[in-house]
Amino acid sequence: MVNKEIVLFLGPPGAGKGTLSHLCVKRLGWIQLSTGNLCREHIAQRTEIGEKIDFAIKSGKLVEDSLIVDMVDQWLDKTVKGDQTVIFDGFPRTVPQAEALQKLIAKRGDISLRLVRLTMSDTDLVTRLLSRAICKNNKCQAVYSVHEHSSLKPRTPNICDECEGALVRRSDDEETAITERLKIYHEHEKGLLSFYEMMGQMISDVEAHQPLEEVYCSFLDIQGMLNDND
Ligand code: AP5
Ligand code: MG
Repeated sequence: MVNKEIVLFLGPPGAGKGTLSHLCVKRLGWIQLSTGNLCREHIAQRTEIGEKIDFAIKSGKLVEDSLIVDMVDQWLDKTVKGDQTVIFDGFPRTVPQAEALQKLIAKRGDISLRLVRLTMSDTDLVTRLLSRAICKNNKCQAVYSVHEHSSLKPRTPNICDECEGALVRRSDDEETAITERLKIYHEHEKGLLSFYEMMGQMISDVEAHQPLEEVYCSFLDIQGMLNDND
């Protein structure tokens, strides 16, 4: 890989990393790696890894760093062929993962990193997560809100707009697991930010508690891309 760019979407559960990634894929032609989606795919396919991580995911814990790093390494080998911009949605989440990412990048040549953090209050995150539905088709996993006032509802109730798969709740979108996920996110966030600060890597914050189009515009704006894509 040469002259590539990886955009890291950091931010707590429910901030909209997956939703914003999906928009960037559709509108900008970028590619998305969601480590959460990969994990859920393993669980749905009952692979050996899936069996191993099922409980951690359901209870809102993190999956072992080495498993996640191997998944990312293999995904990069399999998926990234040209010079596309890649979004990492939900990776890295710990300092060891951030260190491992530096190695994955170094072994692939000239890749630059951009970091974007979606920010939002925990109370609003919980409300969002309790209204989320995703497509059951593990190759799709499109994300919706079933909140009655949301503009992110599916066109037909309970049916995915993209593949007509059934919509389901995620196993970790219940209150105990949500509380655990938020706690774990806050435990690791400071260390991760300090790691990138030490590396001299700038992190741009985007206020995630805005309608999606405004989040997208803020994101383009901080990337200096607003006029090209508005
Ligand atoms: P993962 O799937 O990444 O879950 P997460 O980090 O908890 O984040 P979410 O997917 O819940 O939130 P999101 O920010 O993507 O929000 P979304 O766009 O869906 O990981 C799941 C699990 O896998 C982890 O807990 C862990 O076990 C494991 N894992 C994954 N990566 C790992 C790693 N690197 N290391 C270790 N373990 C790992 O939006 C949420 C809701 O809000 C939706 O309903 C959406 O429609 C709505 N919404 C989005 N944007 C807006 C908006 N602007 N306005 C209104 N509503 C909005
Ligand atoms: Mg997500």
